[in-house]
Amino acid sequence: MKTNKNGKPEKRETFSTSLAVFFATLGSAVGLGNIWKFPYMTGMNGGGAFILVYLFFVLLIGIPIMLSEFYLGRKTRSNVVGVFDKLKASRFWKLIGYFGLLSAMLIMFFYSTVAGWVYSYVFKALRGDFRSLSSMGLAEAKAAAEKAFETTAGGTYEPMVWQFVAVFVVAAILLGGVKKGIERVTKTLMPLLLTLIVICAVRALTLSGAGEGVAFLMKADFSKLSAASVLAAMGLAFFKLSLGMGTMVTYGSYFNKENNLIGTSFQVAISDTLVSLLAGLAVFPVVFTFNLAPEGGPGLLFATIPLVFSLLPLGNLLLVLFFLLTAIAATTAMISMVEVPVVIFMEELKVPRKKAVLLITGLMFVIGVLTTHPQSLFGGVTIAGKSLFDLFDYLSSNILMPLGGLLITLFVAYFVKKNELIREMTNNGHLKTAGLVTLLQFVLKFVTPLLLIIVFLNALGILKL
Ligand code: PHE
Repeated sequence: MKTNKNGKPEKRETFSTSLAVFFATLGSAVGLGNIWKFPYMTGMNGGGAFILVYLFFVLLIGIPIMLSEFYLGRKTRSNVVGVFDKLKASRFWKLIGYFGLLSAMLIMFFYSTVAGWVYSYVFKALRGDFRSLSSMGLAEAKAAAEKAFETTAGGTYEPMVWQFVAVFVVAAILLGGVKKGIERVTKTLMPLLLTLIVICAVRALTLSGAGEGVAFLMKADFSKLSAASVLAAMGLAFFKLSLGMGTMVTYGSYFNKENNLIGTSFQVAISDTLVSLLAGLAVFPVVFTFNLAPEGGPGLLFATIPLVFSLLPLGNLLLVLFFLLTAIAATTAMISMVEVPVVIFMEELKVPRKKAVLLITGLMFVIGVLTTHPQSLFGGVTIAGKSLFDLFDYLSSNILMPLGGLLITLFVAYFVKKNELIREMTNNGHLKTAGLVTLLQFVLKFVTPLLLIIVFLNALGILKL
């Protein structure tokens, strides 16, 4: 065991307050997923109808798995591999940890690339690069905005430099550790992010296209809700809430004994959904005000948004704020991804934090650049018709995270005794939530695994719903 200067065992760090727990966990959940995946997927898959299905999965898969992860983390105060040694479980379960390690790496390879684009857009908006768009005709401005994105993402050095900046910021935060790094940064930046997104949404809602934008996002159209979109909603719940790869085990291991796990999971899931909705409300009214098509994916974030925002009065300021909040969201999500392997290295391989952070972020940067940039060594490689960028996204979200989530669910449902689960979740009987824990165990045993098996078989193409 590690000892401090006085020879006493060194205490594992924890977050200081419940508010710190909330902001750190929300910081992990809120990310690029809210800003570009959620609004687009919602608009395209039947608006309010999709949101209802999404909430159904958040409730029956998301919250139960989040609680299972919190339980494992806080109970054992361990990384996602070490958890199973501490609980004296068979070595098989350590697979959860190894899958988590792999997911964290795969996600970081492409996520940090996109984060780099976002950082570069903060810089470019600050420099006023998009101001000229407002003096062009719409078609010309649209072409110019698309060109700007091509340069940012397709260049040789530019995307690499910005990805380096994004990874460097993550490394710098994680070097500070749990309290001085993760806690301090999320407690300062999350309130700022929430304020900025409200400002952007309020501004957008005062435009003439507001009604159309809100309708695109919210109006429930059940006819657009195909079986495929139901499954997409399920995958989104995983990615959004950072589940199935040990992020919430790791953060849970920093929670304090007084924290209300059930309360935290609901607060985080609800706030995260609100942020997603606000992101949609900040974007679509503006898009419709200028009669543009609400295209999805990278095009929406990196071409349409600069274009439409720059057409508004004080639009450049709004653009800076919007990309700043996106950069914050991406950064606080990335620190939670990278913390997973960092703590595994620290505790399982006894590597000091500094070395672990530098090693892992270094690896992520180098492999990320080599595989996910179109111009680089493996940038043009495709496997089964997918670029490596898309393949990493697919493998992590559709295979590894659901598989990890399924294993976590089964472990907590069938290997943890009911009384033990109640004791930990009610903080030794201090909280009067034993009834909820009983319900949770029922859902974990029978509902969550069944739903997950359906997503998983579909992801593998075995089941075609
Ligand atoms: N939840 C983050 C987002 O929506 C992504 C994420 C996945 C973060 C897995 C951590 C772990 O962008």
